[in-house]
Amino acid sequence: MKDMRVVEALATPNAAADIRVRGWVRTRRDAKDIAFVELNDGSCLANLQILAEEGSPVFAALAGAQTGYALEAVGDLVESPGQGQRWELKAREIHILGAADQSLYPLQKKRHSDEFLRGIAHLRPRTNKYGAAFRVRSEAAFAIHSFFRTRGFYYVHTPILTGADCEGAGEMFRVTTLPIWNETTRSNEEDPLAGDFFGRECNLTVSGQLEAEALAMGLGRVYTFGPTFRAENSNTPRHAAEFWMIEPEASFFDLTDNMALAEDLVRHVSRHALEHCAADLDLFNRFVDNGLMDRLRSLAEGTYQRVSYGDAIEILAKSGRKFEFTAVFGQDLQTEHERFLAEEYFCGPVTVFNYPKEIKAFYMRANDDGRTVAAMDLLAPKIGELIGGSQREERLGRLEQRLAELGRDIKDYWWYLDLRRFGSVPHSGFGLGFERLIMLLTGIGNIRDVLPFPRTPKNLEF
Ligand code: 4AD
Ligand code: MG
Repeated sequence: MKDMRVVEALATPNAAADIRVRGWVRTRRDAKDIAFVELNDGSCLANLQILAEEGSPVFAALAGAQTGYALEAVGDLVESPGQGQRWELKAREIHILGAADQSLYPLQKKRHSDEFLRGIAHLRPRTNKYGAAFRVRSEAAFAIHSFFRTRGFYYVHTPILTGADCEGAGEMFRVTTLPIWNETTRSNEEDPLAGDFFGRECNLTVSGQLEAEALAMGLGRVYTFGPTFRAENSNTPRHAAEFWMIEPEASFFDLTDNMALAEDLVRHVSRHALEHCAADLDLFNRFVDNGLMDRLRSLAEGTYQRVSYGDAIEILAKSGRKFEFTAVFGQDLQTEHERFLAEEYFCGPVTVFNYPKEIKAFYMRANDDGRTVAAMDLLAPKIGELIGGSQREERLGRLEQRLAELGRDIKDYWWYLDLRRFGSVPHSGFGLGFERLIMLLTGIGNIRDVLPFPRTPKNLEF
């Protein structure tokens, strides 16, 4: 007897005697004299059809097995006379591994809404759509690692507990072991944090960039791929409180190298998905977003455009389009602006570069014009900002000056400034939001549906 996963069984070139499959019943249909069970084991989108003839011991073993049951079946893989599949399993033995009370099991054959399925996030991996989404997620992660590996980037691990606010946006989750930590206890004590685990303020990281820069100053090219936390109280389809970010950081890269790296990465992952996730992508193209395949093909093979922030503002101003927010130089682009640029003006991915310094983080390299920094955002159709990055300010004096302008205490940045004090070199990097990438690859419109267990404001079930 040979164990086979459904994906192997369906792809087998020849009939196979005496195999065993295990999985979950998607549906059961009883025809005259025969029961058909559609078995799925997560190895692919398709199910394996299992046949049990009425009156046989297998039929009896199947008993009341219905949607949601876990079972194993042993038998022969034979050519299927039916439509839609090449192989089916003629069962000789069936064992129920786990029953599922039909009066309680919430997943039935009909299509369920995304909202309903979010409420049963522990069961939704058993649906076609979420199974497909999480398989694509896994493939995309693999493609990212292989992309960086072939380009000489080392995978590094930066801390999740940090004392620094990389982005300076104040969107951090505080971590403490103190029993109650509030403003009252704070004012009653000299130094309320003295008794805390670290003896100082600790937060969940909003970005591994600052530490990645230190690693890039020794290893040359590095990238992180890890969980990231932001206490942004914005309930949008594109923001999660816990998400995964990929952050490459490369010594000797300038902004142009950085933009090219970002474009190549998106191109590589899109190609990989087209090659390795065909069945799952077809599902998304048919049921979720019917422009998906065209868009993916253009991400894989088409051109990526670039435009300066100043020119982008002009394009938006001259577009004749009524936006909710008017685009003016000096203000951040809104999602509506980003989507207009990527979807309607450039009709594809576009990188906006050289943003005004006021709207960007302290570490970005000052341009000679005195008002912009060497920042870049890669905007994608349907998503808006997919990637944000920059060339870093490598000049000690300039960096200290910028921190002072922003009213920061340069003592807090002692080690980061050391990187500019000792062997400083031009370097660049960016952050790619992994969930936004999965949204782009699947056409799924809400970030809550590409994370197995999403964390958003007022939502911490599971
Ligand atoms: O643009 P951001 O804030 O850049 C940084 O954090 C830099 N330190 C990255 C770097 O240069 N190393 O975030 C980068 C990307 C965004 O473009 C977006 O795709 C994603 O992270 N992102 C989020 N994704 C989901 N939920 C959120 N709340 C996100 N915030 C940012
Ligand atoms: Mg950004």
